[in-house]
Amino acid sequence: MTQRASNGNDDQLLAKIDRLRRERRAVILAHNYQLGEVQQVADFCGDSLDLSRKAAATDAEVIVFCGVHFMAETAAILSPQKTVLLPDPRSGCPMADMVDAESLRRARAEHPDAVVVTYVNSTAAVKAESDICCTSANAVQVLESIEPGRPVLFVPDQYLGTHAGRLAGREIIPWPGYCPTHRRIRAADVQQARAAHPCAEVLVHPECRPEVTELADGVLSTGQMIRRVAQSDADTFIIGTELGIIHRMRVENPGKHFVPASEQAICPNMKWNNLEKIARALESNETVVRVEPEIAARARRALERMLEIK
Ligand code: 13P
Ligand code: SF4
Repeated sequence: MTQRASNGNDDQLLAKIDRLRRERRAVILAHNYQLGEVQQVADFCGDSLDLSRKAAATDAEVIVFCGVHFMAETAAILSPQKTVLLPDPRSGCPMADMVDAESLRRARAEHPDAVVVTYVNSTAAVKAESDICCTSANAVQVLESIEPGRPVLFVPDQYLGTHAGRLAGREIIPWPGYCPTHRRIRAADVQQARAAHPCAEVLVHPECRPEVTELADGVLSTGQMIRRVAQSDADTFIIGTELGIIHRMRVENPGKHFVPASEQAICPNMKWNNLEKIARALESNETVVRVEPEIAARARRALERMLEIK
């Protein structure tokens, strides 16, 4: 897939990763925002929904998860008998840290009839307090699956919740969380990019502010964006999400042009992993992501309810 300029060191590292991957019966999963060199070595790249399905279905013994902590935790919850490794344990998600289990329990007590829908960008402990999870790819379908008339507490992304609620025709009670990376994309950035590229298709992530999603031709998960740019007849795209995805889009669609909606949309947490750390993770079995079994069992129910939907 995506490449960094190859040199002797990289070739040695790639050969080492391949040997260790075979010896350990491992699979390497990478999110669409990871560095090109990481996507290049991965067995599979995708969005949070694609990756959780892969993690649940793989028969590998070890999953090297190149993404952020909540994604690796989701893999560990769905595949408790497998070893899940996060190559760099600093890979967190600030939005996931905007809600904790205790404050969610308090909110539930204030809204005793509410169904708690939790975005997968959350900790295992928060998922364990939830009725059902969703991702950016299936939030609308998840909301549509909820019994009409029940209030919905949507945690933690206020922007995804409000956007999906509008499409599903459901009023939601939003948690005040957000993604700092996507919040840096401004409506004025999109307007300027459109003025410079009037024929471009504007694709943005639902974690963007509402005034940004309103301007878009498509509001899509990262996996949906990858598929849309491959299928669309347009030759220029303005991309309103984390910049790592553009690298992959350019490699996979050589005749098309990709313009970032904002150069500020970089998630530092997604950039910690690299080839050296993947090799080290496989060699030294670190860092193992573990979820306490009682929490994992409750979180698994919320995740499995989501996976049953679509
Ligand atoms: P996707 O599930 O669309 O890949 O989004 C994950 C994420 O963290 C976006 O910031
Ligand atoms: Fe979290 Fe935002 Fe980074 Fe996605 S881009 S991992 S939501 S901080």
